[in-house]
Amino acid sequence: MYFGVDYHPEHWVYPYDGTPEAPESRWERDVELMVQAGVNVVRMGEFAWGCYEPAEGKYDFGWMRRVMDLFTKAEIKVVLGTPTASPPVWLAKKHPEILPIDARGLRRHEGTRRAYCMNSNVYWDYCQRIVRELAGALGNHPQLIAWQIDNGLGGHDTEASFNEEARRDWHAWLKAKYETIDRLNELMGTRFWSQGVTDWDQAPMPMAAPTVHNPALLIDWMRFCSDTIVAFARMQRDVLRELTPNLPVTQNLRALTRLFDHFDMAEVMDFVSVDSNATIKTKSAELACEIDMMRSLKKTNIRMPDGDCGFWVIEQKAGNVNWQEVNSLLRPQVVRLFTYQLVSRGACGVLYFLWRQPRIGSEKFYGGVLTHTGRGDNRVYQEIKEIGQELKQLGRVLKGTRIAAESCILTSHDNDWNLKFVNQPNKYFNQREHVQLFYNALHDRNIPVDFARPTEDLSKYKLVIAPSLQLLAGGEADLLKLYVQNGGTLVATFNTGLVDEHHIAPDTGFPHDLTDLFGLEVLEFDPLPPGEENHLTIKGAFAATHLHPAKLWCDAIEPKGCQVLASYAKDFYAGRPAMTMNSFGQGKAIYIGTMSHQFFYYDLIVWLRQMCNLFPLLKVPDTVEVSMREKENTRIYFLLNHQNSPVRISFFKPMHDFLTGKTFTGNYDLPPHGVLVLDEQTAQA
Ligand code: GAL
Repeated sequence: MYFGVDYHPEHWVYPYDGTPEAPESRWERDVELMVQAGVNVVRMGEFAWGCYEPAEGKYDFGWMRRVMDLFTKAEIKVVLGTPTASPPVWLAKKHPEILPIDARGLRRHEGTRRAYCMNSNVYWDYCQRIVRELAGALGNHPQLIAWQIDNGLGGHDTEASFNEEARRDWHAWLKAKYETIDRLNELMGTRFWSQGVTDWDQAPMPMAAPTVHNPALLIDWMRFCSDTIVAFARMQRDVLRELTPNLPVTQNLRALTRLFDHFDMAEVMDFVSVDSNATIKTKSAELACEIDMMRSLKKTNIRMPDGDCGFWVIEQKAGNVNWQEVNSLLRPQVVRLFTYQLVSRGACGVLYFLWRQPRIGSEKFYGGVLTHTGRGDNRVYQEIKEIGQELKQLGRVLKGTRIAAESCILTSHDNDWNLKFVNQPNKYFNQREHVQLFYNALHDRNIPVDFARPTEDLSKYKLVIAPSLQLLAGGEADLLKLYVQNGGTLVATFNTGLVDEHHIAPDTGFPHDLTDLFGLEVLEFDPLPPGEENHLTIKGAFAATHLHPAKLWCDAIEPKGCQVLASYAKDFYAGRPAMTMNSFGQGKAIYIGTMSHQFFYYDLIVWLRQMCNLFPLLKVPDTVEVSMREKENTRIYFLLNHQNSPVRISFFKPMHDFLTGKTFTGNYDLPPHGVLVLDEQTAQA
């Protein structure tokens, strides 16, 4: 198990620390404090281009080698970032054409970070050069165990740039996709508003315009930008693979907030790493959902430094951030709790951002493991030290364990991007919230869940939930049918299959290509404003603990062979089906034509759990989060109390807790923010 920090040694030289005689002397103290905290890995160098190459062609990697040598003695491993997220100012001055141009045609200037166009040949050349020099200088250092590519790709709205080189690549991309202009015009539906083009050069980039661009063009633009980012990362990976083939490559991703296909990106990486703001969010199930999304990005071909099989959290916030209106401190034990949440969901490396609050730059009031004083007598350092000791014990047990899920929620980037376009049927619909309703119901019943794209092999899942795949490709629809045909249980919802992959609406009825699978047709849909509700009349197939509202969207469904599970209580479609089930091949396809409150999804999952033979990991009070990591003959359960008050758990058998080494029987009060790590033999609560 890797446990560490994000360290910026370049911030800690004279005059910010050290002395004129020994400008780098602070580094030794840092290493000592890290060793005491149980740190065994650091990530460094992700913004160090200006220090590595202060003037063009004048390289200095000696300082980083000296830091890495100090880590050799301390047996601390190193991950180095390629420094391409912060091109030095001299480069932007010499080649202003690398600076990105925004949708209004304005240049975004140098002097911060991420100011580059990913289609710039010049920038690619400079990146290849610095990555080669870096790998040549430090790639054989014995402490180096992995590379991180760039930093925060796509962050600060840098997914797209509108430079002439972007236009050139965009046209080449369109040509490769459509082959002929006629095909482009036909599939993009450019007859609308006279958008037809007669030459590739005429295809617009979606720059600021009087009104909305063609959504078919927009979705292609997003795919193109995503392919560009992935290609930029692949280019660096290839250089690193050539020079240091044994070192795995990763990247710090965020929970699907950035506009590129994270599954594609994960394919390019050897293992996934995540930036986590966990500690500043309040709802633990939302965090759990995001962790599961990130864990699910790469399910096979994982190559990690120690041969493990999960993901890393390469930036876990050690304290407050600096961009909220009020950046309050984290309460005691909260960092520990969230560290365990990450570990419980498959993390095999956790590094805290950042080691010490910087004295310089724009992030000086971010929470750090050390405060500005660097003394190590602060509260957070003491807490991290305790976590370090605990994880040392656990690492051995957790090695090689995985999360095994039998249920899955589908997600596709094409669809997510499309749902963000303007002119939606209901602008109050929010896909992330919709997903969370299903996720909460599984999570709160302790049923593990994966995320997957619709094109993955779904056959291992007993239950697949497909919330609002408004943009659904023909091939994806076919795979969903195959899954059900072979015995799977699929749940889909309103706002599904309104357009195909070319953003063309079907003339065969909604949901596109799936009317046979669900045995119904959605004749029309009625988006409702917030606050307005219809009601569901449940037809008895599953037990309802509450009156369930129908909110935001009501599909008027014409049944064509399906069983009706619930209908609407009022309005002109009163009595029409709102929820249905259809047998298809050996499986079942369930359709929910509306959105409801959380209790509906709880009831739904209780019913589906029985139907699909899904078992909760443990039965504990609802407020306790449970997850499990397993390998042959070993099952490790994590119980987390996210409340500010103790929660009583009743153990009917003696239970062994790895953290305290104690065995519990009978009632146990899990303290506020408390954690238990239990093994299989005794885990029958
Ligand atoms: C990350 C970034 C770090 C730092 C951090 C602050 O996304 O990689 O460099 O800026 O955010 O939260």
